[in-house]
Amino acid sequence: MTHSEEIQKRRTFAIVSHPDAGKTTLTEKLLLFGGAIHVAGAVKSNKIRKTATSDWMDIEKQRGISVATSVMAFDYADHKINILDTPGHQDFAEDTFRTLTAVDSVIIVVDIAKGVEAQTRKLMEVCRMRKTPVIVFVNKLDRDGKDPFDLLDEIEEELHIRVRPLSWPMEMGQRFRGVYNIYEGKLDLYTPSKQYVTQSIAFTDIHSPELETHIGDLATQLRADMELIEGVYPPFDTATYLAGDVAPVFFGSALNNFGVKELLDCFIRIAPAPRPVEALERVVEPQEDNFSGFVFKIHANMDPNHRSRIAFVKVCSGRFERNAPYKHVRSGKLMRFSSPTAFMAQKKETVDEAFAGDIVGLPDTGNFKIGDTLTSGEDLHFKGLPSFSPEIFKYIDNADPMKAKQLHKGIEQLMDEGVAQLFTNTFNGRKIIGAVGQLQFEVIQYRLLHEYGAQCRWEPLSLYKACWIESADDDALDNFRKRKAQYLALDRAGRAVYLADSSYVLTMAQQDYPSIRFHFFSEF
Ligand code: G4P
Repeated sequence: MTHSEEIQKRRTFAIVSHPDAGKTTLTEKLLLFGGAIHVAGAVKSNKIRKTATSDWMDIEKQRGISVATSVMAFDYADHKINILDTPGHQDFAEDTFRTLTAVDSVIIVVDIAKGVEAQTRKLMEVCRMRKTPVIVFVNKLDRDGKDPFDLLDEIEEELHIRVRPLSWPMEMGQRFRGVYNIYEGKLDLYTPSKQYVTQSIAFTDIHSPELETHIGDLATQLRADMELIEGVYPPFDTATYLAGDVAPVFFGSALNNFGVKELLDCFIRIAPAPRPVEALERVVEPQEDNFSGFVFKIHANMDPNHRSRIAFVKVCSGRFERNAPYKHVRSGKLMRFSSPTAFMAQKKETVDEAFAGDIVGLPDTGNFKIGDTLTSGEDLHFKGLPSFSPEIFKYIDNADPMKAKQLHKGIEQLMDEGVAQLFTNTFNGRKIIGAVGQLQFEVIQYRLLHEYGAQCRWEPLSLYKACWIESADDDALDNFRKRKAQYLALDRAGRAVYLADSSYVLTMAQQDYPSIRFHFFSEF
């Protein structure tokens, strides 16, 4: 197979949802189709508990298993599918956002009863920013929920994307009869309690009287619905989907394995193969001969005695080879990897080669940072791995004076992994950790102690947001710095950050200093 054919058959994507909409169940059913797992429940048992009371035991468990489930690759119908797992817990949202930078497309799962929820909205914002093509899977049709037309309107309004149904449900809940597969022109009929589509009938002309023989009285309703759909939504056009302008929508029930194969079959046909990736220097095409890739995730080893980590690299172009020398652009050093791993099904395996679209796991002893680039030699810096303004802030203090060095090292390494963000207050020199959720502070404290032998103490800090500031007007910036001295900090890259303690104060600052730009994420 040629290099270009290898790349063309790859589909690298993530399934995302608000917790409980059915992401894990759908992932699992896809893996079953791909033959990557053989029993239902294999993925599910690995899931972190979603309650707010998750403690570090859960976190530890999660860390252990999520190496195995971080990437799930399988072959299906001549394609190589890479599903990138994202943590369901909202406290790890930043991890999810970063994973989205490594995918070429996304499937969003929406619960028919709950509709668009908070987390779905946030995730979609990231997809929109990056113009990532999105397919929506409306789940749990075996339960009663919203009217499908109303739900489509809600998705358009709430997610700010146009939609185009490619399948259409016939009733729902107890009366659910199945879906009309618009994309393929098929009637997929449902029998409750069977683990597959029980009857799939090619059916392109829904005006044929034969429709009645299959679905009886529902035929009239289906014809009326289809007429409305054709009237309201323009015909499906793959180009608008690939541009991130239109999201095709499928209906089904992941738990009952209904509509899942149809989704997968359509997905491999329309979803993009690896796409070009923007670097600061130029746009990198997947088909290029030279290898390039970036680190989007770093995973610490479960075993505290071995402080090794795995850096997950998305291959952006060319072919990655085991033992070949690659340039670590940030340090300028050449590195070789004797045991890179790929993630086939749920097993980790050493691989000799990987292609654009693939994810390789590289054992790391502390050289990598999130966002680092590896290349065959060229100096490239991939864009699009921004840090978002955290939501919770705490001063971190040393609780064991004998272990100051360990604490420092631990904090630096955990920040390299992207566990949270570190700021240094320029007024008092104290270190501030910013995170999205409470759980991250627990993880940090626990890992500092168990992996670095260091003890930390938290002091709550009531802040609203951290904004990166910049201005072409040096006087205004100087003036601002003097006035807000107590609220200024530096991020790890040495950039100026304003710590606003309330939304009111921030609005006032924006009004008073119109020549200063306040950014809510670190890439601008
Ligand atoms: P998540 O990863 O998005 O958080 O959702 P997950 O797949 O864990 O699904 C959340 C709950 O919804 C699970 O029930 C799951 O069984 C159920 N579910 C998923 N798909 C469907 C569907 O098509 N129909 C119905 N009726 N339910 C569905 P749970 O009670 O929380 O977990 P469990 O006891 O089943 O493991």
